[in-house]
Amino acid sequence: MNPQEAEKRIAQLSQEINHHNNRYYQESNPEISDFEFDKLLEELIALETSFPDLLDPDSPSQRVGGTITKDFQTVEHSTKMLSLGNTYSVEELISFDERVVKGLGHPNFEYFCEMKFDGVAISIVYENGRMVRAVTRGDGYKGDDVTANVRTIRNIPLEIKGDNIPATFEVRGEIFLPLKEFLKINAAREEAGDALLANPRNAASGTLKMQDSSVVAKRRLNCYFYQLLGDELSVNTHSEAISLIEKWGFNVSQTYRKVADIQEVIQYIEDWKEKRFSLPVDTDGVVLKVNNYDQREELGFTAKNPRWAIAYKYKAESAETELLSVTYQVGRTGAITPVANLSPVSLAGTTVKRASLHNANEIERLDLHEGDFVFVEKGGEIIPKITAVNPERRNSNAKPVSYITHCPECGTELERKESEAKHYCPNAESCPPQVLGRIEHFVSKRAMDIDSMGTERIRALIDQGFITDPADIYELEAKKEELLGLEMSQDQYETEGDGLLYITLEKALYALTEGLTSKQVHDFLAENTELPLAEVLKAFQEHIRKLKKKVPSNTGMIDYLISNLKDHNLPKLEDYVPVAVVIDLFLSRKVDFQQVLEVSKKEGTVHGILLKLNLDLNQQLTDRIKKLKANTFQDGVIKNMMEGIAVSKNQPFEKVLFALGIRNIGENTAQLLARHFGTIEKLEAATSEQLLDINGVGETLVLSLQDFLSQPKNQEIIARLKGFGLNFEVDESESKQLGNSLEGKRILASGKLTHFKRDEIKDAVIAHGGQYISSVSKNLDFIIEGEDMGPSKKEKAQKLGVPMISEEDFLKMIGDV
Ligand code: IVH
Repeated sequence: MNPQEAEKRIAQLSQEINHHNNRYYQESNPEISDFEFDKLLEELIALETSFPDLLDPDSPSQRVGGTITKDFQTVEHSTKMLSLGNTYSVEELISFDERVVKGLGHPNFEYFCEMKFDGVAISIVYENGRMVRAVTRGDGYKGDDVTANVRTIRNIPLEIKGDNIPATFEVRGEIFLPLKEFLKINAAREEAGDALLANPRNAASGTLKMQDSSVVAKRRLNCYFYQLLGDELSVNTHSEAISLIEKWGFNVSQTYRKVADIQEVIQYIEDWKEKRFSLPVDTDGVVLKVNNYDQREELGFTAKNPRWAIAYKYKAESAETELLSVTYQVGRTGAITPVANLSPVSLAGTTVKRASLHNANEIERLDLHEGDFVFVEKGGEIIPKITAVNPERRNSNAKPVSYITHCPECGTELERKESEAKHYCPNAESCPPQVLGRIEHFVSKRAMDIDSMGTERIRALIDQGFITDPADIYELEAKKEELLGLEMSQDQYETEGDGLLYITLEKALYALTEGLTSKQVHDFLAENTELPLAEVLKAFQEHIRKLKKKVPSNTGMIDYLISNLKDHNLPKLEDYVPVAVVIDLFLSRKVDFQQVLEVSKKEGTVHGILLKLNLDLNQQLTDRIKKLKANTFQDGVIKNMMEGIAVSKNQPFEKVLFALGIRNIGENTAQLLARHFGTIEKLEAATSEQLLDINGVGETLVLSLQDFLSQPKNQEIIARLKGFGLNFEVDESESKQLGNSLEGKRILASGKLTHFKRDEIKDAVIAHGGQYISSVSKNLDFIIEGEDMGPSKKEKAQKLGVPMISEEDFLKMIGDV
């Protein structure tokens, strides 16, 4: 490509990327995937590297970060970053307005209303149109210089173009993490077993203070601007200033409104009270500002705040509702989280049915009793929380909620370490959610790669006793027949504190009635989600009458359900009913209810309960009860799973080693160990010294490896896996060990190479005893610099002092030239 062509392509790519950034940030409506976006960016970076003269400082490529900041410099603000007075009441707002009228001596002024965004305040200074500094609010006088991180926020202009741009100006605004991004990050953290971020505000503030700006770049922060400062600004009002910064390309939330008087402010507050929940950022109120700058000057400041602006805060919305029961969730690490099941109540635009209780301390702090009426609030957190109980509505004989002592999933006695708030189930070996975590890892793409075993299928197999460890997967082949007809979806079930099985109301109503499709039941419930259970059932009877579907028998069945639920008075779970109660209705008291109840505390599915009860049912009844069951394993699914399992036996030793899920042994270490020792026997026989001698192996790793290998249970699993034909030694023909000139070296290649394709270079490094690392870090021994190495990677490598060698030098090292 010649320079002219490159210039054209760069302009084209920049425009395209800016367009997609705009779709993503301003319109929350991306047209292309992140992957496609990254491809465009990569192409741009490659061109800019080949033609450095064409690099525009405002190019979208300048957002990928790569700068490492150890300590943030403290910088003084040229104008103090003020805070605002707060009020929660309309009366105080009116008093504020009266003070403004008095201060000005007349009522002829306008207000400018904005939402109060709950993020992190930022001040950004531009000189000669270029961003030079971004500083946090700090104590108002001085804050931290976070320029490198702010530069990665893709819709904050790095350069302003146009006529009459002042030589120096400052904009202020609020940086935030969009709610969707926050949820995405937390979902990924949950998957990885990392601690969850508390709320979007903390997440934004934490992100802004990260040391590695390339990590910040991935977090997709955003910013709303609401203030312009400078000496030579040609504006006399705030509304003009806002229009101007919008024109310059700053992101301004389209929620503002210029109004004539305080009544209109009150209207604005009312208008946004509910609507604000649809914004991408948390808001906790409204800021009203006198619009005219001369009038602002006349009004001046108190010791702390301006007299021309105030924040009205919405009261955190609170609602009162009844506590139905407390259930306990068991995480993949065995951590227990109590959940309050609530009678549905409408709060801040959504129906709330559950609230997290976090841990036993929280239950104690609230002094929660069974059947309490509680206040729920929705704050910055996504999950509502219980703030207090209403003591006046407590029954005099209500019992305190007592924390479970045993795991609801496996019955093992719970443990609680002194320093920790959470209880844990210590039964890592066979507690279903903990087994699930391990099996999911074992079958994952980068381990045994059995993609026909998704979470739902694994969970079903664990819950029904088919799998407790990875080796059991290879026993399934022999149990094919037993799998046929087994219930698959566990999502329709829920268990209560002492293991009592519940089933979704949807399934129950579908099975209890005749002539209604499951979709009809589903749609009905979706429309009536806000009603408490008793009212839902009444409304459902009405619905049956309207649909004219077997009215007497169907409504009669629901009558039975209502009275049975009342009679048995079991703990209530919104949207679920006890399976025992439903089965009891079908059996019309042929079996003692206590017996059904006991069985339903031990079994995890309708299928399992029926097997245990060992009933002789007629065909009609069998068909009706079948409607309660989830999807079942059928021939196709089983065949597909068996094929996946069989193929996985070919995975190489390093993958098998990684799949075992030994703590601290990631993919790279597994590869390192597998290639170093060649067989599991040699690895098992290795002494600590031998292990520590390997570059990249530390003490923690040695300890967890030895701990794992010394446990008889793990030895047994390895022996069984060997028996099933899994690879526990390196296949020499595959790993073509060509030499050891790179032994102990950690290497990365970047940019385009002429002698190797992407995967080939990895193989070449490994074949000569080296270790291939996929990101730039100070632990690298060197980087093989190919053509068009990304500028940010290069900058980072230089900063970290990682040597860079050419492809020719590399070839010499491995003796290929
Ligand atoms: S104006 C004197 N406008 O609230 C004017 N502030 O308590 C000061 N904030 O530190 C700022 N949304 O972080 C203004 N639309 C908005 C705002 C806003 C959020 C924050 C900002 C400031 C704090 C003031």
